[in-house]
Amino acid sequence: MCGIVGAVSKDKNILSILITGLKNLEYRGYDSAGVAYLKNNKINIIKSIGKVSKLENKIVKNDKSNIGIAHTRWATHGKATSVNAHPHRVKHITIVHNGIIENYEEIKEMLKNNNYSFKSSTDTEVGCALLNYYYEKFYDVDKTIKAFMDKVIGSYAITMIIDNDLDNLYVLKKESPLVIGISDNTNIVASDIRAILKYTNKYYILNDFEYAKVSADEVIIKSIKGEILNKELHTLDLKDNDNSKGHYKHYMLKEIMEQKTTILKTVLPFIEEGIDSLMTLPDLTKYKEISIVGCGTAYHAGLVAKYLFEEVTNTRCSVYLASEYRYQNNFLSKDTLTIFISQSGETADTIAALKLVKSKDCPTLGIINVENSTISYLVDTCLYTKAGSEIAVASTKAYTAQISLLSILVLSHGLRNKTISKDKAIDIIDEFKSIEKLITPLLNNKDMYLSIAKKIYKEEDIFYIGRGLDYYLSMEGALKLKEISYIHSESYAAGELKHGTISLIKKNTPVIASATNSNLNAKTISNLKEVLARGAVIYLICDDNYKDDTFTIINIPKVSDFIKPILVIIPYQLIAYYTALLKGNDIDKPKNLAKSVTVE
Ligand code: F6R
Repeated sequence: MCGIVGAVSKDKNILSILITGLKNLEYRGYDSAGVAYLKNNKINIIKSIGKVSKLENKIVKNDKSNIGIAHTRWATHGKATSVNAHPHRVKHITIVHNGIIENYEEIKEMLKNNNYSFKSSTDTEVGCALLNYYYEKFYDVDKTIKAFMDKVIGSYAITMIIDNDLDNLYVLKKESPLVIGISDNTNIVASDIRAILKYTNKYYILNDFEYAKVSADEVIIKSIKGEILNKELHTLDLKDNDNSKGHYKHYMLKEIMEQKTTILKTVLPFIEEGIDSLMTLPDLTKYKEISIVGCGTAYHAGLVAKYLFEEVTNTRCSVYLASEYRYQNNFLSKDTLTIFISQSGETADTIAALKLVKSKDCPTLGIINVENSTISYLVDTCLYTKAGSEIAVASTKAYTAQISLLSILVLSHGLRNKTISKDKAIDIIDEFKSIEKLITPLLNNKDMYLSIAKKIYKEEDIFYIGRGLDYYLSMEGALKLKEISYIHSESYAAGELKHGTISLIKKNTPVIASATNSNLNAKTISNLKEVLARGAVIYLICDDNYKDDTFTIINIPKVSDFIKPILVIIPYQLIAYYTALLKGNDIDKPKNLAKSVTVE
């Protein structure tokens, strides 16, 4: 989604800070970029459609400035054009904005009646005009910001320059992330502290309805009432935030390979001392039911947890798409723990669902990767996955970290409610401790994945099937393939094929399946035979050395249900990767997608 950087300095040229920051935010996805900076006592605005490097080339080479704001825009209101790109400027005010001003049409009408006119079709230009309207009314920044916050419905992280006040940036926040990085004689605001780590790892986090005046040597943070707030200064641990690609061609491949360590790193604190460490996890026996909420891959991780909670610990668990959750009856009760899963901790739909649960005073738990993110603050209890920075848009190591942490949570619950014996728990802990040995051969099986990719990369439709846990994994497999290869891929419960979808199977249609449950494998295999008879080409991941010359088979070791999802997903991730590679796609930044979806 959109990204913001702003900088003000006594002794540095902020243009390089802004461009470096924007480049570091590119992973979020965007389609235009822009910058506004002080040049010859005037605000100079440059915008460009496409990559940040194009914007960089448009900036006059020797330009220098000590204050400026910059933005990458992912189009929501209005197409990806230069006019719609940020920054927007209305008279005294220049802003960049993340989020959506939901009541912008009503505000636009009010402003039109006050002689404002608009060049773009964005809600941001309306927000900018509204700030100018209040500024001209009060000529007082505190009153202007309060009036703006009172009027606007929706979400915003805004960074603003005011013409009469060119030593300061102003930042305002509601529901979109914004941090203020602190460095010597230079302060930098950004959507994500990782964008500005080259300059600082010390930062303040703004909460909703807070705003700040940021000058080169001072930051004053205030509440909507204008009271000065004493905020905690955070420090980001640099060793967990390696943002380089290393020797890999793509972040996605690097991140897939990092699973050798990220899984164990995530669960180790809870298994290091055997089953005693498991007891440090929250006690779930006080709840009658578990609900899980997430989007995309995080939702798929929730489905794996549902399988384990229900099949292993006999605890009812429902999983919901965050985008639907707010608009349905959720039968909220204090006896139900709702778990929110999110890599970024900033996904707008997940945050909205969480706020709904909190508004009813019901218990919440977060499974989050990015520390100090919005969701991590809002939940009652937060457990962190230790996947490290995930830069590729397609989630891989965050997913396996999520399912591992959730599995360990289920394991501790099973011990507590006595559905899992101590001996069984010790065996599962041992499996986790040997995860690197188990997954390394699968990560290294490049020839197999590449040969499958060569057979499927020109296809238009691919089906993923499975039963039970394998069905949930096939959903993630299909998502990985479609988002980076742009091949239409769908997952189906294997038994459902006959109820409609089988009509789409024709000669050479690839069907990819996993069958790793000895009670269900024979059934999945007969479903595969049915599609084979109709011309499909079958690729099967299985764990019981099943042999069939008419299928291409990837064997995985036999392990418990707690580890199995990790082993099945690795071939799925790498088949997707090599297929997208053969298609020559922009693997780390697939078209139309954003890393963190901060609008509804
Ligand atoms: C897919 C993918 C997305 C995210 C989803 C939720 O590879 O990355 O489906 O899983 O947007 O994002 P988070 O986990 O940040 O809430």
